[in-house]
Amino acid sequence: MGNTHGAILQELKGVRVLGVVDKDRQRAQELAEFLQAKPYPDLPPLLARKPDAVWVTTPNTLHTRAVLAALAAGAHVFSEKPMATNLAEAKRIFAAAKKSKRLYQLGFNRRFAPVYVRLRELIAGKLIQPHSLHVKMNRGELLHPSWVGDPKITGGFLYESTIHLLDLVRWLFGDVASLLALAKRGVYEELDDFSVLLKFRSGVQAAFTSCAHTSWIFPFERLEVFGEHAAAETAEMDEIRFTTGLQQKVLMEEFRTLPVPEKWGYLQEDLAFLNAITKKKPSPVTALDGLRATQLVQAIYRSAKTGKWIAPTKL
Ligand SMILES: NC(=O)c1ccc[n+]([C@@H]2O[C@H](COP(=O)([O-])OP(=O)(O)OC[C@H]3O[C@@H](n4cnc5c(N)ncnc54)[C@H](O)[C@@H]3O)[C@@H](O)[C@H]2O)c1
Repeated sequence: MGNTHGAILQELKGVRVLGVVDKDRQRAQELAEFLQAKPYPDLPPLLARKPDAVWVTTPNTLHTRAVLAALAAGAHVFSEKPMATNLAEAKRIFAAAKKSKRLYQLGFNRRFAPVYVRLRELIAGKLIQPHSLHVKMNRGELLHPSWVGDPKITGGFLYESTIHLLDLVRWLFGDVASLLALAKRGVYEELDDFSVLLKFRSGVQAAFTSCAHTSWIFPFERLEVFGEHAAAETAEMDEIRFTTGLQQKVLMEEFRTLPVPEKWGYLQEDLAFLNAITKKKPSPVTALDGLRATQLVQAIYRSAKTGKWIAPTKL
């Protein structure tokens, strides 16, 4: 993701990348060369150069330390997801971001992907008034990069891709009032098969499944939203099909041919971050959004363990 954001930033006028930090010196060197920047083995010497903004793209459990250090050094921070991998750290970042005069933005890129922007427009325009939905978020494997199969580094499977869709459904349908989860070890050593029922405060209800070992069969993520004689269905970030009434056409919009940084929303989230900084606007994906997503993940693990309905926002 450092390469992805770096390649986007390199194309933007008014942005100069000062340095690249990676504990793997070769990776730092390669990306720094590409960006005409300086490589660093750790963060403090780069922060000493007083950058305006820092992108944190290390593996999951390493986000908190880097985010807190960058905020403390007076930098705006874009952090890849997840915000943190436990509630205590998420709350520390939330408090630090609240106190800071700098911007904190979390990398929930799905919110910027055209397919989900379109779905949100259909809901906001009341063309589809959702009652219930079906969501799936599958990974093909927990093998690449090598650390994604190690819960000590990921925080657990749900902190990998699943958290994107947990945030997405909250962005589309509002806060979750309560949830009930089943989980088991399917293929890997950790819980990697989840079936979750969600009740939203808005009255919408959802069935959410997520597992880690589907071999990337298309589409690895999908939402099916059911309204009053209206429905929408997405397929990854490639397409959305929808109908707004009985005996109406089914319309389809395809985004397959867009360049990946745009189709997946990476370009738009970086532009939104820079725009919020320069125009002194609020963060488009806040620390509260990160905390709520962490609570959703923790609530699922807790419900799976106890067999009880859990209210995520009370954690
Ligand atoms: N938004 C998305 O769609 C998306 C997609 C993939 C990954 N991610 C997230 O981005 C982050 C990075 O994932 P990735 O796939 O790019 O992983 P990666 O393994 O390809 O890259 C991580 C880099 O961090 C470096 N690193 C590890 N420990 C370090 C340390 N202590 N200090 C400095 N550098 C260190 C590694 O050497 C490596 O180059 C993860 O948090 C992941 O969850 C987000």
